[in-house]
Amino acid sequence: MSSLKFAFLFSLSLAGAASFTTTTAAAATPFLSLRRIKSSYSPSPSTRPKATVSDLLSLLGPPQQASSVNAQVARDLRSCFKFLSPYNPPPTAARQMLCSSIVLPSNRSSNEIDELITSPPAPVLELARLAVESGGDPGAIHRALDPTPITVPDVEGSNQSRCELTRTPYGWQFIDEGLNSYLEFLFDVIVERGPELGLNVSLSRYDLFHGHLFIANESGRLGILFHAKEYPAYDKQKFPVYMGYCQTGSNVSYDNSMNLRNILWLAPLPCNSSDSCWLAPGVLVALDASPGGIVYRDLVHDYVRIARTLYEEDFGEVVVDVNYLNVGAQVPEFKIFIC
Ligand SMILES: *[C@@H]1O[C@H](CO)[C@@H](O)[C@H](O)[C@H]1NC(C)=O
Ligand SMILES: *[C@@H]1O[C@H](CO)[C@@H](O)[C@H](O)[C@H]1NC(C)=O
Ligand SMILES: *[C@@H]1O[C@H](CO)[C@@H](O)[C@H](O)[C@H]1NC(C)=O
Ligand SMILES: *[C@@H]1O[C@H](CO)[C@@H](O)[C@H](O)[C@H]1NC(C)=O
Ligand SMILES: *[C@@H]1O[C@H](CO)[C@@H](O)[C@H](O)[C@H]1NC(C)=O
Ligand SMILES: *[C@@H]1O[C@H](CO)[C@@H](O)[C@H](O)[C@H]1NC(C)=O
Repeated sequence: MSSLKFAFLFSLSLAGAASFTTTTAAAATPFLSLRRIKSSYSPSPSTRPKATVSDLLSLLGPPQQASSVNAQVARDLRSCFKFLSPYNPPPTAARQMLCSSIVLPSNRSSNEIDELITSPPAPVLELARLAVESGGDPGAIHRALDPTPITVPDVEGSNQSRCELTRTPYGWQFIDEGLNSYLEFLFDVIVERGPELGLNVSLSRYDLFHGHLFIANESGRLGILFHAKEYPAYDKQKFPVYMGYCQTGSNVSYDNSMNLRNILWLAPLPCNSSDSCWLAPGVLVALDASPGGIVYRDLVHDYVRIARTLYEEDFGEVVVDVNYLNVGAQVPEFKIFIC
């Protein structure tokens, strides 16, 4: 087993991988218990086709793509979609103009939030178009970043715990402020609306602080896979997994909210042509990975079942991590770091 794979076992995502390699001894116990969980799992002997992440993305894509998914798989996957904003795809493949000039208000009505998700502001649409027109080139996104690195400061006492939250000790922001505030907006909406779905989440270094920005393989669609509940507290009964330095001091309990910890944002999908048209609206959806459901059964990898993790690599090419960190000392103050 490669050391990377090994790190995967104990990290709910790549974000925490770095601290693991130094705590191999402590990690030995949960490794065994995860294996037991894996071997006691017995799939039902049905002939049902296996769902893929590609099916999931198709269902949230243009109607033509959605209808290409096996009907039973489509029904089962749809039952796992917990939308954070109403999702009404266009009934036909009719090309839609989705140009929004809305600026992000700090005091937003519910309708404004919905509209900002289906039809984001211009800078977001431009980035989505760049991703497609470049043929899925991560460089196109990288070039939209301000090259000035920003050091990631101590976040909620992480330094004292020797916890490295981010992939690199420095990060960037987008040149266009509108993009940075849109990312903040997405984090805020998840926290605001999660509880309605049964996802109790807070912006903290143990819970929701990051997502992985990717470009989907064939469509070139821009998306972010957010991971909430990143470092649940160790619990002998419910969560007997040591996750290293970043877990120390966690107040996140391992409860039903874990099932909804994978939250997917997809940008609107532009046509790949000179006319400015759109094939699918933006969407923000929590993917229900409750045991028994198709997401848990087919899309969560065996060795991370306890953590319910969906891996960003399965969604497409991972471009950057998006972190939203509390850099305040006394008073919380959140800031975007793109790493
Ligand atoms: C995208 O490509 C990667 C690498 O080839 C693959 O691992 C992943 O499953 C693919 N995802 C989709 C949704 O097609
Ligand atoms: C904005 O905030 C004020 C006071 O905080 C509130 O009364 C009002 O309803 C809010 N407006 C919207 C559109 O949410
Ligand atoms: C969009 O068109 C460009 C230019 O023809 C091409 O290079 C790119 O691969 C296309 N993107 C997708 C996602 O098909
Ligand atoms: C973290 O702690 C080390 C030593 O414990 C110190 O040298 C460093 O400046 C601290 N970093 C931050 C960002 O507080
Ligand atoms: C979320 O929080 C509310 C209020 O504190 C509580 O009633 C509810 O049971 C919690 N839900 C979960 C899934 O923990
Ligand atoms: C954990 O601590 C954070 C930061 O102090 C707080 O915002 C959050 O509500 C706490 N969560 C729980 C589940 O107690």
